[in-house]
Amino acid sequence: MKSTNITWHGGQVTAKDRAALLGQRGCVVWLTGLSGSGKSTIARTLESQLVGRGHPAYVLDGDNVRHALNSDLGFSPADREENIRRISELSALFADAGIITIAAFISPYRGGRRNARRIVGPERFIETYVDVSLDECERRDPKGLYKQARAGRIADFTGVDAPYEPPDDPEVRITAAQATPVEAADKIMEYLIKREFI
Ligand code: ADX
Repeated sequence: MKSTNITWHGGQVTAKDRAALLGQRGCVVWLTGLSGSGKSTIARTLESQLVGRGHPAYVLDGDNVRHALNSDLGFSPADREENIRRISELSALFADAGIITIAAFISPYRGGRRNARRIVGPERFIETYVDVSLDECERRDPKGLYKQARAGRIADFTGVDAPYEPPDDPEVRITAAQATPVEAADKIMEYLIKREFI
């Protein structure tokens, strides 16, 4: 930590006050999975379902955040770790503000996700594994990136020459049983209702 002589200020508005105002408890739906697994589409679908029901929700997404806040980071293990660390801190602030925060990042390392859970707070961290096989993601290849990675034009590509460590015990698992983004978003929505976040 480089900064010294700084003091943490707590405000007078409590989490309970915000929950009463917004009619929900802030939390983080953390979507993890391979590139092309559908994380962003599910995130956007869930966001619009929530907002449609009057619930403030907001998507933080890998491709977008890497254009701005994390534009200085690449895809080495250290840069991915820093990417996820910053997103975790950001997600925690959004959740504090009472927002249903939907974070969609490959987040390939178990250690990084464990750290995210600690930063956000385990009681409001909903690890959601978008469980789509590498074969299927590569078949879809929506951005043509697997093809480029196989041709050696992108290094350290997750699933090709960089690892993906699947979650052992995610709160929610999206599988082929949820055939569409709407079905996937519905499953997450049910979980949010069951845990009384909304
Ligand atoms: S993470 O590993 O640090 O969590 P993040 O979710 O932010 O990754 O970004 C992943 C997106 O960056 C992919 O969907 C893809 O569009 C793009 N990308 C570019 N290079 C790579 C790479 N080497 N590995 C994975 N994704 C990459």
